[in-house]
Amino acid sequence: MDIRKIARRCVLELSDYVPGKPIEEVRRELGLTDILKMASNENPLGTSPKALEAMMQDLKENTHYYPEGSAPMLTERLAALLGLRQEQFFVNNGEDGVIAAIGLGFIDPGDEVITSQFTFPAYKNVTGRMDGKIILTPMLPGYRFDVDAILSAVTERTKIVFLCNPNNPTGTIISRDAFDRVISRVPEHVLVVCDEAYYEFAEDPDYPQTIPYLEKFPNLMILRTFSKAMGLAGVRVGYAIAHPEIIRVLNKVKDPFPVNRLAQVGALASLDDHEFIQRSVKAAREGRQQFYRTLDALGISYCPSQTNFVFIDLGQPAQPVFEAMLRQGVIVRPLGPQGLPNAIRITIGTREQNERALQALAIALGKTL
Ligand SMILES: Cc1ncc(COP(=O)(O)O)c(C=O)c1O
Repeated sequence: MDIRKIARRCVLELSDYVPGKPIEEVRRELGLTDILKMASNENPLGTSPKALEAMMQDLKENTHYYPEGSAPMLTERLAALLGLRQEQFFVNNGEDGVIAAIGLGFIDPGDEVITSQFTFPAYKNVTGRMDGKIILTPMLPGYRFDVDAILSAVTERTKIVFLCNPNNPTGTIISRDAFDRVISRVPEHVLVVCDEAYYEFAEDPDYPQTIPYLEKFPNLMILRTFSKAMGLAGVRVGYAIAHPEIIRVLNKVKDPFPVNRLAQVGALASLDDHEFIQRSVKAAREGRQQFYRTLDALGISYCPSQTNFVFIDLGQPAQPVFEAMLRQGVIVRPLGPQGLPNAIRITIGTREQNERALQALAIALGKTL
């Protein structure tokens, strides 16, 4: 069999996504037991206790029933919380699932999709999967999105502009002014997808509140997730907020039951867990300062972050540093596969976890704390 004659050409050309190294894999490969994963921006405090309780209850009582396909209880609650209409919400199997649905619903072969270099790789992947053409614009100094470069790249073939705000993996934001410029200047046939997976952690007064823009701009989509601040990465639930006509398209391409029961009840309960969300956000904000203090003392450069992770520019190949940290049981994310061979990204953990990671980094670099 010649697989190249059977599989779709655009799929064969996709590069493999390299996720954060799982704890189980490190345990198998290195025989370590005490492993700290700081590679996938998960919540170091665990899962919202309210979500956990609701999931355990539902697990016992309802696992033999299919879930509701469109997660109506969750969309109703989100709509009430954000002062929007239920028809403006689309919930799926993580934001990853939402991004895949955007591809299925909107990208025709040959369509152009614009985003920046050094951003979340799913935008490039979904474009490739749909046989679209990805355009990556260069970043501004300080690893920030250059929205003017994005605007200059728009043509009549452009279908989507993906903005990641705050941006993964750099932790930087697109300011209100810059966001305003893109959304008000792109032509109406271009969807602006603003991925706000980390919005809870942002505290910069220049970080834009995008929800009010929905009313004036029917081509705006906002993406959010329960994986980070709510600690629900394992059950997979994320959502899009957009004009009802856009949501109708996404609903046409969704699987019949894309969000499992536990994800739906867990997400719903987590929305009331203000105490847990506040603690998660506080841990990330305090942890950032802890990272800056130590990195400054070690003379290592980094991007000030508006997220629950820190982007570190080592100024030397990062792979050996990643491996030396791994041997100490600390998993971080080397960014070579994303075109940044000298950079790593470290998820912010608890104070003790941050200390251990920073210590491992110092040792890997032959420095003393
Ligand atoms: C910017 C960004 N968007 C989307 C996702 C995916 O989120 P989810 O877990 O909801 O699929 C991530 C996950 O790390 C992310 O960093």
